Amino acid sequence: MYGDSILVKKGLIVTSTIIYKADIKIIEGKISEIGSNLSNSGVDEVIDANGLYVFPGIVDEHVHMREPGLEYKDDFAYGTAGAALGGVTTVLEMPNTKPPVEDSKVFKEKLSLLSHKANVDFGLYGVIHNSNADKFEELVNAGVVGFKVFLGPTTGNIPPPDDGSLYEVLLKSAKLNVPITFHAENAQLVRYFTQKVKREGRNDPAAHMDARPPICEEDAIRKLILFSKWTGGRVHIVHLAAKEGVGLIKEALSRGIKVTAETCPHYLLLNSRDYEKYGTAIKVNPPIRSEDHQKALWQGIMEGAIITLGSDHAPHAAEEKEGDVWRCAAGFTGVQTFFPLMLDQALKGRLPLTKLTELMSENPARLFGLWPRKGAISVGSDGDLVIVDPKVETVVSKDWLKAKYPITPYLGWRLKGKIRYTVLRGKVLVRDDRLVAEKYGMFVEPMRSKEKL
Ligand code: DOR
Ligand code: ZN
Repeated sequence: MYGDSILVKKGLIVTSTIIYKADIKIIEGKISEIGSNLSNSGVDEVIDANGLYVFPGIVDEHVHMREPGLEYKDDFAYGTAGAALGGVTTVLEMPNTKPPVEDSKVFKEKLSLLSHKANVDFGLYGVIHNSNADKFEELVNAGVVGFKVFLGPTTGNIPPPDDGSLYEVLLKSAKLNVPITFHAENAQLVRYFTQKVKREGRNDPAAHMDARPPICEEDAIRKLILFSKWTGGRVHIVHLAAKEGVGLIKEALSRGIKVTAETCPHYLLLNSRDYEKYGTAIKVNPPIRSEDHQKALWQGIMEGAIITLGSDHAPHAAEEKEGDVWRCAAGFTGVQTFFPLMLDQALKGRLPLTKLTELMSENPARLFGLWPRKGAISVGSDGDLVIVDPKVETVVSKDWLKAKYPITPYLGWRLKGKIRYTVLRGKVLVRDDRLVAEKYGMFVEPMRSKEKL
């Protein structure tokens, strides 16, 4: 069966444009009716959502759940359990696992492995690196949700394609209507600055920031905009961290070049002053930068230069996150705190609640061809909901976090709002911090306009 049947009564539904009070009926996993005083015929459970906000399930377009090959860091069962507890009902899983998702064989193996473990719905990225540009079509046909290209070095050290191959895959991206996400940092500059900062004898946590200064991002983004202009390829810049990137994207959009961008909660909530407090826990690629960058990213969100948020959930083992800044791994667990952190910001008035739906649900679903099945509360959509009480707090604690290594700067943070229910295709997965249904997730494939395929 595709899903379960429930009625959610009198909640405040948060769409990307308005908030309104209504009942939502979900029959066998799909939203069948939205209105007032809906009958409970045919449903197994009625949820009283009076005084609660009802968001479409969060779509986290950017997670690294480490399976296969890196399970010592974390795994898909843990990661997707954390997702459900954090209101995320769909995750898009990055391809820098072992082996990297570089052809349809690896893709199919990863898919069959994860299918039995998924606690939420999931899509899978393929990777394009220095020697597999010819695998683009076979990966599309196998069902990838999109691609990832690592222009800059990070976990897995997957080398980028050369410029000719990059140009060619962007042409294919345009033709087949498939987004390509980019880790946009110039690798040669990262190498140069890293060596320079190391030579200076630095080993404080902020040295990592200076080893990957904004020029690294600015250069890569400038190039991607140029390549998008000439190919029409669907460039999506993920984890945007530099204010120069925001400026470049705004300018590109004004010239009709349709590049899109994502940023992550850590770039919005932390800045360079936090290195002292959190040390290498907040080492991440690209690095967390100074406050002027943080401000520009907020502005980029409000002005529409940045259209999605992703968690960049990137767990590592404790021993990898400790000690010397140069040896320390980049990234930290994030899928579970993703929505609660941003909900807190919205409930404190930093951004409208509707903006959360836009950035964290609707836009990622649209971008990756999953909308309106995902990312919408509308008749015919999947019955994926996250139902929150704005009057209760969430405290980020090791006990609450579902992760092999709950390493995050947010431990002890008190957040406004609490998830009461996470619902996936009509099935209640989470009730008040308890995961009550496991392994209910399924693989989702994008819908791309057929004429373009
Ligand atoms: O900090 C990061 N960690 N940035 C990335 O781009 C990759 C990620 C990982 O996979 O560990
Ligand atoms: Zn990432």
